[in-house]
Amino acid sequence: MTSIPADPRLMGRAVKRIVFDQQQIADRVAALGREITAAYPDGDLLMLVLLKGGFVFAADLVRQVGRPLQVDFIVATSYGAGQVSSGNVRLLYDPETNLEGKHVLLVEDIVDSGRTLQKLMELMQTRRPASLAICTLMHKHIAEHLQHTVKFVGFEAPSEFLVGYGLDHAEHFRHLPYIASLA
Ligand code: PRP
Repeated sequence: MTSIPADPRLMGRAVKRIVFDQQQIADRVAALGREITAAYPDGDLLMLVLLKGGFVFAADLVRQVGRPLQVDFIVATSYGAGQVSSGNVRLLYDPETNLEGKHVLLVEDIVDSGRTLQKLMELMQTRRPASLAICTLMHKHIAEHLQHTVKFVGFEAPSEFLVGYGLDHAEHFRHLPYIASLA
């Protein structure tokens, strides 16, 4: 399982290599679940999932957390159909859950420029959570726009365009059960 044949529906793009396979992801997500469980011994925990990219990661992650929690979603977008962050972060869905007094953990698939999370951290902080932290499956460590440390990181991401396990290219590839780079 190293490549998928070129398909015209994928706009000429194909998987180049598997970066993290299913077993690597499952092992790391289980470890993250244990870290999160240990980090929040008390209080209400709200896992706030950034869509669309975070949906697969979050679905697996919440099932690895061994304490009570709530789940809600944020829909934000900055890339559109391109491969470079536009810097124009738009909030398309705002969570209805009251954040006040809760431990809020933002769940993200990848931190790239950090623009998306910087904007969301500023916004969520105004809602007076007991604590506010970030959990990302992958971190590129080039997030010059993010003024917050990322508390939980799954993997250091290579500087390639990554798809699969929720991540897309022009809305394709999100369903792949592994993370891959594109040719
Ligand atoms: C992607 C990704 C992150 C964000 C990271 O989302 O899912 O949310 O960009 O980039 P940044 O650190 O440079 O802000 P995208 O805007 O493509 O929307 P999507 O989650 O719906 O795919």
